[in-house]
Parts: sequence; C-alpha cells; structure tokens
Amino acid sequence: MTENLPTRIAVVGGTGPQGRGLGYRLALAGHEVVLGSRDAERATAAAEELAQQAGVARITGAANLAAAESAGIVLLAVPYDGHAQLVTSLARAMAGKIVISCVNPLSFDRFGPYGRNVLAGSAAEEAAELVPSATVVGAFHHLAAPLLLDPEADLSHEDVLVCGDDIAAKERVMALAADVTGGRALDAGRLRLARQLEPLTAVLISVNKRYKTRSGLALTGLAPAVGKVPA
Ligand SMILES: NC(=O)c1ccc[n+]([C@@H]2O[C@H](COP(=O)([O-])OP(=O)(O)OC[C@H]3O[C@@H](n4cnc5c(N)ncnc54)[C@H](OP(=O)(O)O)[C@@H]3O)[C@@H](O)[C@H]2O)c1
Repeated sequence: MTENLPTRIAVVGGTGPQGRGLGYRLALAGHEVVLGSRDAERATAAAEELAQQAGVARITGAANLAAAESAGIVLLAVPYDGHAQLVTSLARAMAGKIVISCVNPLSFDRFGPYGRNVLAGSAAEEAAELVPSATVVGAFHHLAAPLLLDPEADLSHEDVLVCGDDIAAKERVMALAADVTGGRALDAGRLRLARQLEPLTAVLISVNKRYKTRSGLALTGLAPAVGKVPA
C-alpha cells in the first residue's frame, strides 16, 4: 500500500455537506485541509466552524482557485450543474495533480432520483477531459455527508469504491479513503467505471427514502483488508 503521508488537500465546494464531511474526516486523520468556495469569506467561516468541531487547527478556507493552487491533491465536491465551467476555471491550478471526484450527476423528478446522461460518460471523465494533465480518480460517491459529519458515526463497514487509470494515484486515494472511513477501499477499475459508480448513488438515495435510513455500500466475497490495486 502507498505510504499515506499527511497531505494538503483542497476541497473545492468545501462549504457543502459532502466537502465539509470529507474535510472533517481527512483532517481528523492528520491531513491538512483547505475548504474552497466561490466566496473566500464563506470558506473561511465554514473552515473555522469545522476546525472547532474537529478540535484540530489544520482546516482553513480560501477561494476555490487559491485552495486548488495551494494543495497537492484537489477534491471536487460540487454539484454537477456548473461542473464543467468550474473545472475549466481551475484547470491551471489542478494541472499535474491528483484530482478526486465524488461528483454524482443526478436529477430528481416526481418518481425520485436518477442518473443524468453526461456527454463525457461521467463527471470524473469530464474533469479528465477538461484537465488532461491532471490524474483524475473517482471516489467517495456513496458516503453520506451526514454520517461523515457525525463524530459518532462508524463508517468502517462501508467500502469506498475507487476508479481511475493511474495505479499510483488510485492507491494514494485508496489510502485516503481508508483514512476517511477507517475501513476498506476497493479498486473498482478504470476511470470509465465512474459511469456506473456515479448514478448508483441514485439507488442509495431511493433506498434511503423508502427505508428511512442512510444506506452505504459493502461488497461481499473479498478479504477484510484490501487496500492495494491488484496486480
Ligand atoms: N451530500 C451527500 O451526502 C453526498 C454524498 C456523496 C456524493 N455527493 C456528491 O458530492 C457533491 C457535493 O455534494 P453536496 O451535497 O455537498 O452539494 P451542495 O451542497 O449542493 O454543493 C456543495 C458546494 O458547491 C458549491 N457550488 C454550488 N453550486 C455551484 C456552482 N454552480 N459552481 C461552483 N460551485 C458551486 C457551493 O459552495 P459555495 O457556494 O460556497 O461556492 C456548495 O456549498 C455532489 O456532486 C454530490 O452528488 C454528495
């Protein structure tokens, strides 16, 4: 498994529940987190609140661009609406870096949630197309923000499915995922499988609504500790 050194991670869209939740767990695990926002003041306020909740100082806030410029790893935690425009605006800041996408292109109608058609195949592939020099990895699509933000919530039984085309980057993100949940991260395959992982969240949301729960994913048939990309 890749050595999991403390890293500075920029969370673009870090004022939202998913960005704050992942930022919270990553900071608790020892990483330096900078929450990004379209508004630097909003980012700073969110970061101060989260730092207090986590009891750690290593959470700061900045405008999305400054956050992405300052970090070695960039996590995209924004809605799919406006995704292409935002990614394009951050392209130079993300060039040559690992970019993690947890973006789920979903829509809702009177029948509930469903996956949207994305021209590039998936949000993660869209980011990769827009920033070809970045190494995009898909992860964290199925972790529920309220649980990430709940210090009492045990996420160690949930699997984080990670997809990407670069093995080293994928192992790096799998190590971060294990930090977030305290559990298992699985190599789900190539980045194109984000086309299946992203809309799968619509199923979880639908189940949540029907059973009034917060469902997550756990696969059967695997050894308990899987953290390496299989040869
Ligand atoms: N919520 C969950 O439980 C969950 C779980 C798994 C995956 N996800 C995925 O994670 C992503 C973020 O989820 P979320 O619930 O945190 O979303 P959100 O609250 O709707 O948005 C997150 C942040 O994105 C920024 N934002 C909103 N619209 C934007 C736009 N057009 N352009 C640029 N920035 C914009 C906002 O920050 P500023 O206004 O401060 O810029 C907002 O606080 C989504 O793609 C979602 O599918 C969410």
